[in-house]
Amino acid sequence: MSKVTVIGAGNVGATCANVLVFNKIADTVVMLDVKQGVAEGKAIDMLQTAQTLGFETNLIGVTNDYAATADSDVIVVTSGIPRKPGMTREELIGTNANIVKSVVSQCLAYSPDAVFVIISNPMDTMTYLTLKATGLPKNKVIGMGGALDSSRFKYYLSQALKANPAEVEGLVIGGHGDTTMIPLKRLATYNGTPVSGLLDTAALDKVVADTMVGGATLTGLLGTSAWYAPGAAGAYVVASIVNNYRRLIPSCVYLEGEYGQSDICIGVPAIIGRNGVEAIVDVKLNDEEKALFEKSADAVRKTNEVLKEIGAL
Ligand code: 2OP
Repeated sequence: MSKVTVIGAGNVGATCANVLVFNKIADTVVMLDVKQGVAEGKAIDMLQTAQTLGFETNLIGVTNDYAATADSDVIVVTSGIPRKPGMTREELIGTNANIVKSVVSQCLAYSPDAVFVIISNPMDTMTYLTLKATGLPKNKVIGMGGALDSSRFKYYLSQALKANPAEVEGLVIGGHGDTTMIPLKRLATYNGTPVSGLLDTAALDKVVADTMVGGATLTGLLGTSAWYAPGAAGAYVVASIVNNYRRLIPSCVYLEGEYGQSDICIGVPAIIGRNGVEAIVDVKLNDEEKALFEKSADAVRKTNEVLKEIGAL
């Protein structure tokens, strides 16, 4: 029996919950929101698809009732405001840090053994904040950004290759920011074939550039940040935890010397299973990738410093 709570029933949280129930990933899903009636309403709306779509998951929507989240195996945090066109994710820190801090401590009081999956932005810093503010062991706090950024990388690769997206593989490491993410073009493959031999340099560089601003492009089109891919990526991580799939997912995790970094949460390939982060996978980076990773870590660290300035840590 597995229970998953999704905090925030906005676009991303509700999509994540919808994917969880539709794909029967958990036995019970609880959606919690601060706005009166929103989580309840969205839960009823989703449950009214149960017969047509064919699922029997127990889904509950609640307004700020943390007791209903008790004994969750996984808690997905999507709380806070999304970015508007022209904003960076980092600019959300002032509003989102205290919201995330308060939400995770309330969740933890009812689910001391839960694994936390952080989606709220700026995601790397919110993951770090969750870890530091709760004192949870490092395997129990995972930021979702790499799963999303890698799915965008694979999308753009499949478009450039005119390929079946299911046959394209690629990892995005580093921070979940427009200038901090690192799509590892050298390691991307199309059904086992390196894409570097199939796309010319200009085409591959365009895929990388499009991936990095993938979220901003959608924010420009939608007027708010995206939700289908972020929600689904969150559910993908959750599925690996509750079913112990041990998927290799680029995830924002706490580093203690791995990839030459310490005291930071940032995206690296990790095995995600029942205990959360089961292992960090040491992909050998070349000098160029190492330099990009260092630059990315410096930028994430700079955003983390704001946590102290605003009194969140
Ligand atoms: C995105 O990249 C919401 O950060 C998320 O779309």
